[in-house]
Amino acid sequence: MVSAHQVNQCTWLTSSGASQMELVVIDWFRRWLEYPETAGGLMTSGGSAASLEALVAAREAAGNPDNATVYMSDQSHSALVRAARIIGIPDENARLIQTDARYRLDSEALKHAIEQDRSAGYKPVAVCANAGASSTGAIDPLETMADLCEAEGIWFHVDAAYGGFAVITERGKPLLRGIGRADSIGLDAHKLFYQPYEAGCLMVKDLGTLERAFAVRHDILQDTVWGANHPNFSDRGLQLSRSVRALKIWMSVQIFGMAAFRRAVSKGLELAAQAEDYIRNSNTLEMLLPGSLGIVCFRVNPGHADLDESALDAINKKVLVRIFWEDRAFISSTNLWEKFSLRLCIVNYTTSWDDVLETLDAIERFGNEALPD
Ligand SMILES: Cc1ncc(COP(=O)(O)O)c(C=O)c1O
Repeated sequence: MVSAHQVNQCTWLTSSGASQMELVVIDWFRRWLEYPETAGGLMTSGGSAASLEALVAAREAAGNPDNATVYMSDQSHSALVRAARIIGIPDENARLIQTDARYRLDSEALKHAIEQDRSAGYKPVAVCANAGASSTGAIDPLETMADLCEAEGIWFHVDAAYGGFAVITERGKPLLRGIGRADSIGLDAHKLFYQPYEAGCLMVKDLGTLERAFAVRHDILQDTVWGANHPNFSDRGLQLSRSVRALKIWMSVQIFGMAAFRRAVSKGLELAAQAEDYIRNSNTLEMLLPGSLGIVCFRVNPGHADLDESALDAINKKVLVRIFWEDRAFISSTNLWEKFSLRLCIVNYTTSWDDVLETLDAIERFGNEALPD
């Protein structure tokens, strides 16, 4: 429908219906995040664009200072480092803060880095937290980081591209406590909300911060100013011409209902917990980290085989290759404490326990076959 109707959702004048629909969807997100009524946002291509727009808003809110720095964990998505680069903050001013034993940002190290930077004349413009780091699903200490940002007067951004929609479930909501204190939140409905690409979103606590950063009036758009209650989405982000990204979300919620979305997200989180139990009880597999938000990091490591780290890495790489080429599952890998880790990420609403079991079973089988004689 979006392609066939070819609506350009840049301004109210060209697309009042579609803009109204985006307002409705953004307002759903606002309520799910427990954001105040002053909050708003816009649909974006994805989490990367949301990160960029968030950092632009943060830099503008800080008065566009020289010597700007941004802070994020060493687990943050490359999208944030790239966003910092694009807004003119070089990699050496993007502070990658160390993480704890569960890959969550160490808030004492963050505090220390900010203090040091301030005394060296740097200007902190944003602190970015993960609400579901891509590698492990780690959730940074959102409340503590919000307290620090409030005390320091620094923009607090939460990259919830992966995990944000867990807030719609009973299991996920308490895990993300504090998210509503952020100045901005990046979301990806093409992840835990099962939408076709592209369905990203940036939410800001005070819509004015976005419009002050992005609205530029020029003559060709003079007819599009229709008064305070007719928003032009092009004033909120970097795109003028935009497709109608909210339609698929609006329609699928209308058709399937929120209960179906809650069930799907909960099911993914439960399947991951079940996978974790299975791995803990397996003689062949080893959990490397407690699971978080549907991501489970583990490896083949039969206790009796007494293998060193390089042998384990080699075996697990072989297993991954066999899963790719011989099995029906698509899993990925990551590195944890320099160990090669297999990584399940359950983010498809059609995934069943049989699929997960078949995958774990194949991993055990391939792992045992890869053991040295
Ligand atoms: C935590 C996180 N942030 C940002 C991104 C970037 O989002 P996108 O691929 O939608 O641009 C991703 C995933 O790709 C992600 O997992």
